Amino acid sequence: MSSTGESTIIVFVVESKRGRSVTLSWLVREYGEVSSTQEVAEKLASGGAKEGTVVLAERQNSGRGRMERRWISPKGGLYLSIVLRPGRVEGVHLLTLVGALAAAEGTRKAAGVSPKIRWPNDLVVGGRKLGGVIATASTRGESLEFVVVGIGVNGNFRTDELGDLSSASATLMELAQAPVDLPSLRSRILEEFEVRYEGWGRGEELKLIRLARSLLSTSGKKVEFALRGTVTRGIAEKLEDDGSLVVKVRGKRLRLRAEEVEWLREL
Ligand code: BTN
Repeated sequence: MSSTGESTIIVFVVESKRGRSVTLSWLVREYGEVSSTQEVAEKLASGGAKEGTVVLAERQNSGRGRMERRWISPKGGLYLSIVLRPGRVEGVHLLTLVGALAAAEGTRKAAGVSPKIRWPNDLVVGGRKLGGVIATASTRGESLEFVVVGIGVNGNFRTDELGDLSSASATLMELAQAPVDLPSLRSRILEEFEVRYEGWGRGEELKLIRLARSLLSTSGKKVEFALRGTVTRGIAEKLEDDGSLVVKVRGKRLRLRAEEVEWLREL
């Protein structure tokens, strides 16, 4: 694990109770600087870390975005990755959406800023990217070993720390004109994640999709997207029940799957 902050690991357990039953235990491991919380969580999961293990870091020097992109991660942001052992493969692709909904709702509750979801996995405010979600899965033979959901939110730093990405990005500190309380943000996001993940576990995918439809920034908008190296424009129409996005391109309807689309932006 290429981490310079390993010595600052703090482990604590949060027992989450709703009604009478304990539903999920979070085991949060806090680091100073790591390569990527996603990488650390995957290693822990490969070594047997249990569901609910959360890797949290102050900063990342090789933060990972979707499609092999980098996630610039200065101090002041929220960087966490959650180990899951879902026990079923069907609908696993929706766990990215579970993460995006949790990040959007948690941010609203903790910081009073209400991001939209730019399909498939961006948190945006006024068209600028505030955060992102990534999910990686590990399989053994036919069975799913674990999934790691990573969430990054631009928190207490200025967008100019993001270099070339600064004009397309937003941070909570700039939006709220005050620093956000990162521990509260983390807790709210984990609480929201737990609720949505349990819903997913009970087969309530449609409820997730309905909520996502209400938060989608892209509905009815002109969009541009890259698919297998080709950039295309169209009108984003509908989020389907399976999480794919229907885009009308030159009179024809294309059904985009999240795992195939390199990027998508509103025009
Ligand atoms: C994207 O928008 O492309 C997804 C970005 C996901 C970033 C988070 S930050 C915490 C976790 N660790 C990583 O290396 N990436 C994810």
